[in-house]
Amino acid sequence: MVKKQPGWALPDLKEAQKRSHHQTVIEKALFAIPPHIQMIGQGKKYYLRTYGCQANERDSETLAGILESMQFTPCSEPSEADVILLNTCAIRKNAEDKVLGELGSLKRLKSDKPDLIFAVCGCMAQEEEIVTLLLEKYRHVQLIFGTHNIHRLPELLYEVMSEGKRVVEVLSKEGEVIENLPVRRFGKHKAWVNIMYGCDKFCTYCIVPYTRGKERSRAMEDILDEVRILKEEGYKEVTLLGQNVNSYGKDAGIVGGFASLLEETAKIGIERIRFTTSHPWDFTDEMIDVIARYDNIMPFIHLPVQSGDSEILKIMGRRYTREQYLTLFHKIKERMPNCAISTDIIVGFPNESEEQFENTLSLVDECQFDNAFTFIYSPREGTPAARMADNVSLEVKQHRLARLNERWNQYAKLKNDAYLGKTVRVLVDGASKKNDQIMSGYTETNKLVNFVAKDAKAGDIVTVKITGCKTFSLDGEQCE
Ligand code: SAH
Ligand code: SF4
Ligand code: F3S
Repeated sequence: MVKKQPGWALPDLKEAQKRSHHQTVIEKALFAIPPHIQMIGQGKKYYLRTYGCQANERDSETLAGILESMQFTPCSEPSEADVILLNTCAIRKNAEDKVLGELGSLKRLKSDKPDLIFAVCGCMAQEEEIVTLLLEKYRHVQLIFGTHNIHRLPELLYEVMSEGKRVVEVLSKEGEVIENLPVRRFGKHKAWVNIMYGCDKFCTYCIVPYTRGKERSRAMEDILDEVRILKEEGYKEVTLLGQNVNSYGKDAGIVGGFASLLEETAKIGIERIRFTTSHPWDFTDEMIDVIARYDNIMPFIHLPVQSGDSEILKIMGRRYTREQYLTLFHKIKERMPNCAISTDIIVGFPNESEEQFENTLSLVDECQFDNAFTFIYSPREGTPAARMADNVSLEVKQHRLARLNERWNQYAKLKNDAYLGKTVRVLVDGASKKNDQIMSGYTETNKLVNFVAKDAKAGDIVTVKITGCKTFSLDGEQCE
């Protein structure tokens, strides 16, 4: 047992579950690096690795921005680093195992470089069990902080560097929205834009409402200003981020909510707008209408269904039935026949019967998704589903996952086949990883295209004729 040190703040899942009803406060002047800390990174390098979703990706851009404001420079090899920071994900056990494996294998670097600092932040740091494990078994980890106090990194790192002690600061209650944090964007043409933080949906299997706290929306003007600046800087695409973007503004009484934010963003005239994730429960007609009316809002919607069985959906706490999901799905397709739709599906939720699983397969048959992210249910400590008895063996779950993947892959191929001979607009990411003669990028409908380029450069939007269709990508040739 590691004794709790004075000054430590440890996570508490019960606290994290509580929701206050006060209106979101926007803090504009909370972040400043004290003068004695501003240069502590001079001559030092940091290695930052990100796990998990786009919210973490965007947080890492802030972490990089903060570290660079303290004069640290980035490096791409952990062996070169003076600080190794892992921004972690807790969504499933295998996500956690990856981080723990990495921490274990990087430990050896400490023997060559005793001053090397290991830091862990992100969603895993919000979990009681994990922090206890890190404190007891991963003694080389010197700094642990959570998702709510990223802005405290300068002071926390300074404490570790100047006093050589272990520092743990994890807040279980979310803070307010802090607006002036530095950012070093990793992409030159595509940018993530947070519109809100946290989640209040509490789907019974999910850890996110505990690791990310209450739903808190940014002010609409702050978001629009960020998009305007990105456009001026030459960005071609923004993705509006939230665990459930449909809830945007509800906590802060913002009139018009997400539909109105989406419309105002579109009017700025940036070339491509995407958003993720939207929950099928509160996807409004106004949203469909705005997406359909603006050419620069991409015809692609990620609409996680999780299960095709109404009883399982009810136990998952998803707030919609199979029929309600299908009604929404068809409404979107009717208004926008060319809109691509992807989904997330969990198989092997506690006590899922063969018949219930087959309802998921038949929903996939009906929707014919363009893409799907499929997972075996993973119990998360502290969530209601983790306390449910489960009569489904891992073997059955694995078999169901394989059957489901085979099924949705067929439709993904079918959807891609429909592109043969068509021309599409592609935002170019750069040369393909496998062959530098070939460029790659995404269509408006979010299809990956590898194409023979004429003069296309990264960041261009070019017209490509599709010459071949695979399950997960398209091949093509750039037109004049
Ligand atoms: N806010 C998003 C989802 C974020 S998590 C939404 O509601 O759509 C991304 C996906 O991970 C979820 O859609 C779900 O399919 C999956 N997931 C979440 N918790 C899980 C768990 N305990 N086991 C397996 N998959 C899980
Ligand atoms: Fe998790 Fe549900 Fe919130 Fe998505 S909406 S983050 S699945 S609790
Ligand atoms: Fe993972 Fe946290 Fe995102 S648990 S999926 S990094 S919100």
